[in-house]
Amino acid sequence: MKAVMYERYGGPDVLEVRDIPVPQPGPGEMLVRVRSSMVAYGDYRMRSLNLEGIPAVERFLARLALGFRRPKRRILGMGIAGDVVRLGAGTIGFIEGESVVAGLWHGMRFGGYAEYACVPAYGPVEVKPFNLGYDESLAAIGGIAALSLVRRAGIRTGDRVAVYGASGAVGTTAVQLAKHAGAVVTAVCSGPNRAMVQALGADRVVDYTKEDFTESGERYDAVLDAVGKLTPSKSSRALTPNGRVLSVLTNGHAASGRPELSYLLSLAQRGALTPVIDRTYPLHRVAEAHRYVESGRKRGNILLHCDRSFNPKGTP
Ligand SMILES: NC(=O)c1ccc[n+]([C@@H]2O[C@H](COP(=O)([O-])OP(=O)(O)OC[C@H]3O[C@@H](n4cnc5c(N)ncnc54)[C@H](OP(=O)(O)O)[C@@H]3O)[C@@H](O)[C@H]2O)c1
Repeated sequence: MKAVMYERYGGPDVLEVRDIPVPQPGPGEMLVRVRSSMVAYGDYRMRSLNLEGIPAVERFLARLALGFRRPKRRILGMGIAGDVVRLGAGTIGFIEGESVVAGLWHGMRFGGYAEYACVPAYGPVEVKPFNLGYDESLAAIGGIAALSLVRRAGIRTGDRVAVYGASGAVGTTAVQLAKHAGAVVTAVCSGPNRAMVQALGADRVVDYTKEDFTESGERYDAVLDAVGKLTPSKSSRALTPNGRVLSVLTNGHAASGRPELSYLLSLAQRGALTPVIDRTYPLHRVAEAHRYVESGRKRGNILLHCDRSFNPKGTP
């Protein structure tokens, strides 16, 4: 099968498409033919070992887990949508031929940038909603960290919530989940993304290139930093007395298991969460996808089409 591998940390060109054997599903696992794979901002971080903004202790732990000198996991790809082609021994809960959406972040297993991936059936994996495509289903979970931000903020009906970095994968999800919780949402993003975040439900939009939302005099019950670029001391002056600031860099790794994945998919299935897809790339253009993600300008999600039929030049 084709898979994107990297043997050393560096720029997008360290990513190479190679031919490797199809992995064999172990006990409790299933082999999934990958249709769509998520290219997350975190993938860029892991490829380049850019751990900027991450607290020191977590940074050390991340290096330990990733590999100090070279990457331990050679295949990136933390989220996939595809079809179950084989079940490992004792695997229950899924059947061959079923379409699924899965997170491969637990235990930092990864492996999504490939034509096939092994998915533990007991992990964050769920049947793909019948009324959504592979890309849409995957994009629905692309900002899963937003769920822990919104839940930890304890948002109640009528709360005033600011989502900083509202146009990214986490931001677009956070805006919608905060609205869903009954909040009055101010989305902070740049001018070109105004219409998109309004369409997702934002009540008010502040263009951060023109205005500092912390200086407008508005007070918020919660500020959700969905892009990890706010200084907490600065944002705390925009809070009500009991208000809270939560950042994706310190609160984004909380629970993101099957219940969270299932919840986001169920919202998307009934039209209560709109998955935002910016661009899709075929597998062989993975370096290009990484360059775009690295720019920090993506809107919502970037997806890699791992199925060769998506690849006009892709011959075995
Ligand atoms: N996806 C997850 O569930 C998850 C989980 C754990 C941690 N994280 C971390 O969360 C962070 C955000 O991830 P993401 O995928 O949502 O990011 P992203 O999609 O790459 O965010 C890009 C967006 O952020 C906006 N942006 C860039 N700089 C900004 C600034 N200074 N102020 C306001 N907006 C800005 C950009 O809009 P403009 O072009 O308008 O500036 C762009 O639309 C990353 O550090 C990631 O590693 C994510």
